[in-house]
Amino acid sequence: MIVAANFKMHKTRSQTQEYLNELKKIKFNGVKVALFPPASALMEDKIVGAQNAYPAINGAYTGEIGLEQLNEFNIKRVLIGHSERRHILNESQKFIAEKFNFYKNQGFEIFYCIGEPLEIRKKGIEAVVEYLKSQIEGVDLEYEKLIVAYEPVWAIGTGVSASLEEIKETHKEIRNFTSKPILYGGSVKLNNIKEIIEIENVDGVLVGSASLDVNTFKEMIKIAKDMK
Ligand code: PGA
Repeated sequence: MIVAANFKMHKTRSQTQEYLNELKKIKFNGVKVALFPPASALMEDKIVGAQNAYPAINGAYTGEIGLEQLNEFNIKRVLIGHSERRHILNESQKFIAEKFNFYKNQGFEIFYCIGEPLEIRKKGIEAVVEYLKSQIEGVDLEYEKLIVAYEPVWAIGTGVSASLEEIKETHKEIRNFTSKPILYGGSVKLNNIKEIIEIENVDGVLVGSASLDVNTFKEMIKIAKDMK
């Protein structure tokens, strides 16, 4: 079971350090825990990963960080293809695949996000699958250190997660593309995490807003630990 926290543009370095100290007070007991703080809060710790990175060692890419900056903190884990980067930062599939392949070649663990907007969901599961296929173009879905995160755009930050049926059906479809772990993300909360991780082909969760409170996140890990 995998439980990951995406802080997005929340928390400073000192707040992240405090959070991490508090988090480390519990045993993870076989649950893989990952933490994605903002770039300014990256720190050397096995569970920390980057929310984004440019596909280059270093160079003239204003505002970006690359391999050299990640290496300083021994970061070996990166989130790629998050819907906020696809839609707000206008990252194309070509660029996302470039990032994937660069960090794959560097042996990083890659949390790779896919997910459809509401207008596609409304058209039904076949349209959803077609859309998701377009988001995996150029990406090796059998890469050994790949973790896929299915995050429907309409469920992110809205407080409305996908229904258990929708999650089940979509994860089953994604399972046809990959044998790697598949996380669900999108309004995962303390009161729905258990029923979500019990669904077949759900290997964990990627949590945004609800992860910002360390006690809530600790509780979520505890629930994942109790899963057989
Ligand atoms: P949310 O975000 O839990 O706030 O919906 C999830 C994500 O974007 O990873």
